[in-house]
Amino acid sequence: MSERPEMFEGVETIWQDGEFVDFEDAQVHVLTHALHYGTGVFEGVRCYDTDDGPAIFRWEEHLDRLYESAKVYDIEIPYTPEELTEATVELIRREGLESCYIRPIAFYGYGPLGLNPSESPVETAIGVWPWGAYLGEEALEEGIDTAISSWRKHASSQIPTSAKTTGAYVNSVLASLEAKGNDYGEAIVLNKEGNVAEGPGENIFLVRDGEIYTTGLAESILDGITRRSVITLAEDLGYTVHDDATISRGELYAADELFFTGTAAEVTPIRSVDDNEIGAGTKGPVTDEIQTRFFDILEEPPEQYDDWFKYV
Ligand SMILES: Cc1ncc(COP(=O)(O)O)c(C=O)c1O
Repeated sequence: MSERPEMFEGVETIWQDGEFVDFEDAQVHVLTHALHYGTGVFEGVRCYDTDDGPAIFRWEEHLDRLYESAKVYDIEIPYTPEELTEATVELIRREGLESCYIRPIAFYGYGPLGLNPSESPVETAIGVWPWGAYLGEEALEEGIDTAISSWRKHASSQIPTSAKTTGAYVNSVLASLEAKGNDYGEAIVLNKEGNVAEGPGENIFLVRDGEIYTTGLAESILDGITRRSVITLAEDLGYTVHDDATISRGELYAADELFFTGTAAEVTPIRSVDDNEIGAGTKGPVTDEIQTRFFDILEEPPEQYDDWFKYV
């Protein structure tokens, strides 16, 4: 077996199909349906080291989205949400982690190949590992340089964008490869109509004249859970949030502030798009207030948002 990627160093156990197995033994067959046709659904979740101990952020919402994604592809996850919760909590405890990333996945496994997956068994796994700032610590402070991808986001009439499907992520991979290949930190992907959709793994927010805008669900985006959380936090801070916006490329360039949201990216300011400085070319004041509030809550969950946390 090849050397472990650095991010998985120290991971001892994976939960796979109802069992806790050694990291090295968590394997699938090369003729696995999902490997050939992308027929899997997954989640990305974070557990934070709060003042009250490790807590999974918005676990219920992530689980709901996992089962909803599965439904689209007739993937019957052979475990209840309670069983997946118990497995995840136990896994984090066994790994002794205070904070981590959580990756549950369910997919059509090793069975007959061919596009109809119904004869393939559904396999399920959960991995957890420590994962720092996805776009880098510096990006959280200074902002990230982005470029509009030449790859358009698939329309939700082609592949449902509300579902987190493994195969659909080739679109995000193409956008990321292009951005990184051209020395940008991240891509921004336009939809079929040429309006802003989202980042490869992030939703996007725009600030103009003190009001906040984010692309609507009809723009072929993932209904991000961080997006929902940030909308609530911003409204609770007194901002007007337009969560159904259509945003053009030009509006991005002219924005006072832009930022990404996502489980991995958290709240990351965008300091440039296609080499055009956004605002003052650094983290703007509204982004700063929302980002600060976001991280404060994750450190010290207030009663108001108590149901956002599942304590380990
Ligand atoms: C395409 C895409 N958009 C947006 C997001 C942000 O979603 P969330 O906040 O639920 O992580 C993600 C990350 O999962 C994503 O992959």
